[in-house]
Amino acid sequence: MAEQKLSIYKSRRNRVCLTQTDAGRFVVKTFLDESCFQKELQIYKLLQNKDIPCAQVMAAEGKTLVLSELPGQTLVECLQQQEQTGVPVCDIWKKLVAWLTAFHQETGFVMMDVNLRNFLYDEKTKMLYGLDFEECSPDSIIISAASVAAFIRTYQPENTPLKQEISKYVLQLFAQNYEMEVDRLFLESAGQEEKILARRKNKI
Ligand SMILES: Nc1ncnc2c1ncn2[C@@H]1O[C@H](COP(=O)(O)OP(=O)(O)O)[C@@H](O)[C@H]1O
Ligand SMILES: [Mg+2]
Repeated sequence: MAEQKLSIYKSRRNRVCLTQTDAGRFVVKTFLDESCFQKELQIYKLLQNKDIPCAQVMAAEGKTLVLSELPGQTLVECLQQQEQTGVPVCDIWKKLVAWLTAFHQETGFVMMDVNLRNFLYDEKTKMLYGLDFEECSPDSIIISAASVAAFIRTYQPENTPLKQEISKYVLQLFAQNYEMEVDRLFLESAGQEEKILARRKNKI
């Protein structure tokens, strides 16, 4: 089948390309690690027929997954736009918490890598999608919730009033969903923020 690479996505560890074939456009994700490929495939199988918006696996072979192309832009871009207008779009962040909660409750796993490039939001349909499941574990939701709020605060420019407001909103929603003490989540999130900043410093 004729295949044309249209673009390469920003990826930390893997090779992720948007590809045009005779049958349409697909995202081709080739993993560096066989175990990560297996983990992501396992999670996609768990998500099948569940009401949790995500890509469809079209093929899986070697260390490569062929996925349906999801619409929308990453939550990093959404956050940047909200920073420019100075107005939080609460509906998007509410959908993010609802997605992570449903993912945990339906699969028993939590997403450990919850950086905002792992979520897409489609303005047209108002749908939010999750992707990148190679780092999932049957853990407590606390780390995932604390970490996603920490990611929100740490994109440049860090810790603006808007980012703090969105982060607080997200943590309060998790606290409601799981009947948790919000102060415990705030504390855990401060710890996650330190870890994110330390990782970033070590890379430079
Ligand atoms: N099915 C998809 N549809 C549209 N974009 C995707 C899809 N899968 C991945 N992407 C894009 O590719 C980027 C990297 O993919 P991801 O699975 O997160 O790889 P990595 O594990 O290397 O971070 C994402 O941030 C997203 O922008
Ligand atoms: Mg990713």
